[in-house]
Amino acid sequence: MTVLNVAILGFGTVGEGVYKTIESHQEELTAILGKKVKVVAVLVRNKQKARKISDKILVTSDFNEIIQLPKLDIVMEAIVGSEPSFTCLKKAIQKGCHVITANKQMFAHHGKELMKLAEENAVSVGFEATVAGGIPIIQTLRHLLKVNQVQSVQGILNGTSNFILTEMRENKESFADALTLAQQKGFAEADPTNDIEGIDAFYKLMILSKIAFGKEPDWKSVEIQGISDISYEKIQEAEKCGLRFKHIASISKKGDEIFGSIKPVLIEKFHPFYNIEGVENAVNVQSDIVGSITLQGPGAGMFPTASAMIEDLVYVSQYKAELQQQSLAKTV
Ligand code: HSE
Repeated sequence: MTVLNVAILGFGTVGEGVYKTIESHQEELTAILGKKVKVVAVLVRNKQKARKISDKILVTSDFNEIIQLPKLDIVMEAIVGSEPSFTCLKKAIQKGCHVITANKQMFAHHGKELMKLAEENAVSVGFEATVAGGIPIIQTLRHLLKVNQVQSVQGILNGTSNFILTEMRENKESFADALTLAQQKGFAEADPTNDIEGIDAFYKLMILSKIAFGKEPDWKSVEIQGISDISYEKIQEAEKCGLRFKHIASISKKGDEIFGSIKPVLIEKFHPFYNIEGVENAVNVQSDIVGSITLQGPGAGMFPTASAMIEDLVYVSQYKAELQQQSLAKTV
């Protein structure tokens, strides 16, 4: 049986989740793809750290060792920050590999360039995991809403912030304790500033804007407010009035202009996000034909994010088969 050789860049919560899911779902993957999926290399920061990785796999902190492997089909990246991710993925694309990323910061900054490079090299870029964890919002917007004109997209896009707000309200926890718990559960980034100050949601919103409207607003025009000013007292006061704080990222199109904002909003019971609790994310899309659609699901964590990356693995692999068929059709 032929084999699909995969490298995983980064072995934090998400990278490890991808590795484990490839192992646990080998049978399903083989049945769908007609190929065995084999992890051949893992890029880590510190080689000495103990990890549960088969000793048949190359574990290295030098990406050059990975890119020089003679047979490499797909590079799956789950590193934090724009670099070295962007450079690694560019090299992978230039070598003819499909790439899959969970890195919202890198993709918000360099997604356009990566997609262009991928097109030039006849490979595909999977980025479902960059937005809203396990919710398939990217594929929904890219492939299932082609005729609909999207008017606006609203979302709870950061699992950590939603988890903190829920913990503070339901369990009367302090902000600091709720944040620590979010970190222990693997939801928050190692440096959680981007989570709680709205920056993480901002990157995700810009990615959604590009998919929904084909363009982004001027980044400087987007109002960004995090949740660090929301005290326990404010949450209790709101609760007494039947209101809840939710950290909502919104993007809409008026004429040719795109408007975006990310901020805590007080919402009433009838709002589709009122019952979105804990690490859950939700995305509401308003479009001209279908009206309002809301998708909800786990927005962070090991397996929800791995799920999005594994679905992308199937998507990009099938895309490759499609490309091969097309070029075969041209030759006969
Ligand atoms: N730290 C992010 C969050 C992880 O809490 O939403 C998923 O992007």
